[in-house]
Amino acid sequence: MLGEFIQHALMAQPKWVRRMGYGREMVALEARHGRCREAWRPHLDASRRLIGRAAASAPRTGRAVVLGSGPLLDIPLEDLAARFDRVELVDIVHPRSTRRRVRKLANVDLVEADVSGAAFDIYGLAITAEPAEKRPPPPIGLRGQSCAVIHKTITETAALGAALTTLPEPKPDDGLVAGADFVVSANLMSQLALLPLDWVASECPWADETAQLGFARQVVDHHLALLRRAAEAGTRVTLITEVLRLVSDANDRPLEKIDPLFGAQIFSVGEEWWWEVAPMGERWPDAAAKLRVLGIADLAAAPQSRVCRNTTLAAP
Ligand SMILES: C[S@@+](CC[C@H](N)C(=O)[O-])C[C@H]1O[C@@H](n2cnc3c(N)ncnc32)[C@H](O)[C@@H]1O
Repeated sequence: MLGEFIQHALMAQPKWVRRMGYGREMVALEARHGRCREAWRPHLDASRRLIGRAAASAPRTGRAVVLGSGPLLDIPLEDLAARFDRVELVDIVHPRSTRRRVRKLANVDLVEADVSGAAFDIYGLAITAEPAEKRPPPPIGLRGQSCAVIHKTITETAALGAALTTLPEPKPDDGLVAGADFVVSANLMSQLALLPLDWVASECPWADETAQLGFARQVVDHHLALLRRAAEAGTRVTLITEVLRLVSDANDRPLEKIDPLFGAQIFSVGEEWWWEVAPMGERWPDAAAKLRVLGIADLAAAPQSRVCRNTTLAAP
C-alpha cells in the first residue's frame, strides 16, 4: 500500500490528470496485474499475438501508434520497435515501468495525451477546477478581488450559459493518428468514459443519469469513428476491446451482465476470448468477473455482422 502511494506521488502527470484519478488507476492496474498474473496471462498473450500478427502484415512500416499503451502489458513493444521506423506510445499517463522499458529503444516515443477528447473539458466543469483559457475562475474563488474583477468574471461566466451545465461533446484529436501506418487501440475503448463519469458523478450534481450515459456512449462512438477514419485513410488499424462484462457466482452462474460500451455496437467481426479480470476473491469474496474481448486485426477488412450483442442476463 505504501509502495503504491509512493509510486503515485512520484508519477509525472499534470494536476488535472492527477485529480481525475488517472495516475491512481495506473498504479492500481499494475498492482492488480501483480496479483492476477496467471489469470490475466491468456488474455495478454492473445492480445500480444494479435497485435504482432497485425503489425507483421501491415503493408507500410514507417510509423506505428499505440493508443492506451499504459504499462504495456498487452503490447509486443520490442517487436513493434523492430518492425517500424518509429513507434509512438499514447496514454494519458505512463508508469515508470514503461519509461524504463522505452529508454532501451531509440525509436520509441512516449506521448501523453487524452485520447477521448473529452476528459479535460469534463474536468473544467467542476466548480473546484482551476481556471483555464476559456473558463473564468468561479466567483467563489474571487474573495478579496476588486469589484471590477468580480463583475468581469460573473459576466463571462453568465455568457457561458447552458455550456456550464451541459456535458461536452467529445472531440478526439485525429492528429494523434494522422498519417500513421499502423494504429492499435489496446484495451482502451471501454475505459475512456470511466474516470470522466466518476468526475461528473462527484462534481456535476446537475448531470442526470441519462446525460451521463449519453455522454459515455458518445465517447465510445467518437473513438470508433476516429479509428474508422484512420482505416479509411489507409492506416492499418487494429482494435482490441472488451465487449461484455460478466459477473458470476462461485458455481459459475451468471449474476450480472454489463455492457461496457454503453450501447455502442461494433459490427465488425474478429477473434474473441475471455479475460478473467477479477478471479474469485480479487474483487468480491464470492463472485468473479470476466470480460469478453474482441480483437480485430484489420478494421478496414473485417467482415461485418448484423448480430447485436445481447447483454441481458437471460441471453446465452
Ligand atoms: C485497461 S488499461 C490497458 C493498458 C495497456 N493497453 C495494457 O494492457 O497494459 C487502459 C489504459 O487506458 C488509458 N486511458 C484511459 N483513459 C484515457 C484517455 N482519456 N486518454 C488516453 N489514455 C487513457 C489508461 O491510462 C490505461 O493505460
